[in-house]
Amino acid sequence: MRPLIVGNWKMNLGESAAKELVRRLLAALPFDRVDAAVAPSFPCLRAVLDGVAGTPLAVGAQNMHWEAKGAFTGEVSPHVLFEMGVRFVIVGHSERRALFGETDTAVSSKVVAAQRHGLSPIVCVGENEIERELGRTREVIVAQIQAAFADGALTTPDDLVVAYEPVWAIGTGRTPQPGEVTRAHVAIREALGERFGLPAEAVRILYGGSVTAENARVLLQATEVEGALVGGASLTADSFASIAAAATSC
Ligand code: PGA
Repeated sequence: MRPLIVGNWKMNLGESAAKELVRRLLAALPFDRVDAAVAPSFPCLRAVLDGVAGTPLAVGAQNMHWEAKGAFTGEVSPHVLFEMGVRFVIVGHSERRALFGETDTAVSSKVVAAQRHGLSPIVCVGENEIERELGRTREVIVAQIQAAFADGALTTPDDLVVAYEPVWAIGTGRTPQPGEVTRAHVAIREALGERFGLPAEAVRILYGGSVTAENARVLLQATEVEGALVGGASLTADSFASIAAAATSC
């Protein structure tokens, strides 16, 4: 499967820094061998979309509401994102779950809404430190997958991306062993298979959490890993391009 590398810029980079990073990424990324996307903060979307026009670099949003329009002060509509040219949206990132109270029900509604409006959802799942210590990793991520793609919800596996992001590894410099990553990815693949049947094979499962230019090869070589969701190391062109290069050689 062709790898996918996604840069989650989080609440970093203003417009001029975003434009400069896009310019450098367009020169540095190996687009012939990797699919790549960046997710800037909302106010920078227009500048980034203009910067990538006519290139293979895709643009995603970090969040959205599940309704297309209405009285939801401060929220952003999937319809408006699609109309701008956005094609990906990160859903259920652990920072949104932990800091902004995003529930499994909201995640499920957002997945359905994203697909209805032509956006490819990147659904994040992962256990926290205590759950890991209690040996509950598999149980937690399978439950998150089942909730995100709840039976009865009109989700399809087409253009769906899942990111396994252990909460304890995000922004900490700590990473799981490749074997742990593989076990988690296999559990996700099985849960997707139970929900969607054979078409689940086409869903790309990314690893995220402290991916760097230095550790990318080891993490991305783990079985069932089809790319990376990168936070801190996506903020400079050199490190993001090195991660992309590592992905192509796995
Ligand atoms: P990190 O973030 O690479 O800075 O750990 C990853 C993420 O939150 O998606």
